Amino acid sequence: MRILTLETTCDETAAAVVTDQLQVLSAVVASQDALHDRFGGVVPEIASRAHVERVVPVIDEALRRAETTLGSLDAVAVANTPGLAGSLLVGLTAAKTLALTHDLPLIAINHLQAHIYACRIASGIDVFPCVGLIVSGGHSNLYRCDHPTDFTPLGGTIDDAAGEAFDKVASLLGLPFPGGPSVQQAAESGSSSAYRLPRPLLDDSETLNFSFSGLKTAVRYLVYGPGKLPAGPLRLPQEQVANIAASFQQAVIDCLIGKAELALERTGFKVLCVGGGVAANGPLRQQFEAAAVAKGYKLHVPPRSLCTDNAVMGAIAVERLRAGQFESLDLDIHPGLQRIG
Ligand code: KG4
Ligand code: ZN
Repeated sequence: MRILTLETTCDETAAAVVTDQLQVLSAVVASQDALHDRFGGVVPEIASRAHVERVVPVIDEALRRAETTLGSLDAVAVANTPGLAGSLLVGLTAAKTLALTHDLPLIAINHLQAHIYACRIASGIDVFPCVGLIVSGGHSNLYRCDHPTDFTPLGGTIDDAAGEAFDKVASLLGLPFPGGPSVQQAAESGSSSAYRLPRPLLDDSETLNFSFSGLKTAVRYLVYGPGKLPAGPLRLPQEQVANIAASFQQAVIDCLIGKAELALERTGFKVLCVGGGVAANGPLRQQFEAAAVAKGYKLHVPPRSLCTDNAVMGAIAVERLRAGQFESLDLDIHPGLQRIG
């Protein structure tokens, strides 16, 4: 069986063709980074307009690479929660149109569950039950994942998401969007112990929540001085940019590893799956691997291309297909993540 999966939750327009045996026949991603760069973050209106322009060519390309036609598909799946409303609507409208015109079953994808399912696809083995850590531009959440589509929230950010903090700190340091890769690159020549930045909530073993807003403000004060606002274009010496980037990156990594391990302790689970764009971060991956070996838990982090938004992780639709969970053409978007189960 062949399933076309669509992903337009934020600023990547993506389509993939996967089989019910979790084989990936094709994967196409059209990134919008260049469109949002000068704003230092994703502009929702620009994102949805770009999805409108790209969604059909991206689907065509995914079908062509998979040597498949619309007529030979068995289902169409689309991420309808959570995400930017305008962006979600474009993918959902495309999927419904294909379902209606080609008489295909329609399957809903929860984007956050899909990020964790990327670990299942990449590893080729059953990773459930596990603790799931999703770290992206819009989310920093910990879940107890009993099944691919049965998640219980354990904790999450009370303010900024980790990726959002990377993007804002990059902007403060005059580095390009998206901030994660550019902070990582700048940090390579810096020292992570140059500045002692806060690790918010890390020492509070009562909570599995994160907080990155204060960390971002601490970087702002380092750059502009306590309580000061930008007085003009930033011209920091390259060495200082590298040191701030490395110190900030390390503070985020410490918080993520600390809380993920607390979640493992609380659940008694021995498997940790990490997904989302921030999981593409090199030092984060290395330090999680070292921590997993030291503490004796099994770690799954997908390859970088399956960490940032993609449609391959939409293969989670196979789980719903197997359970006969199809949607009617009344399916709606849920930008704010109304349900996770
Ligand atoms: O999962 P994703 O592609 O989209 C959302 O669902 O939000 O994540 C995008 C986020 C951005 O904030 C970006 O800066 C961050 O992931 N990111 C990284 C890296 N690559 C992407 N953060 C840290 N290090 C990276 N190498
Ligand atoms: Zn995402």
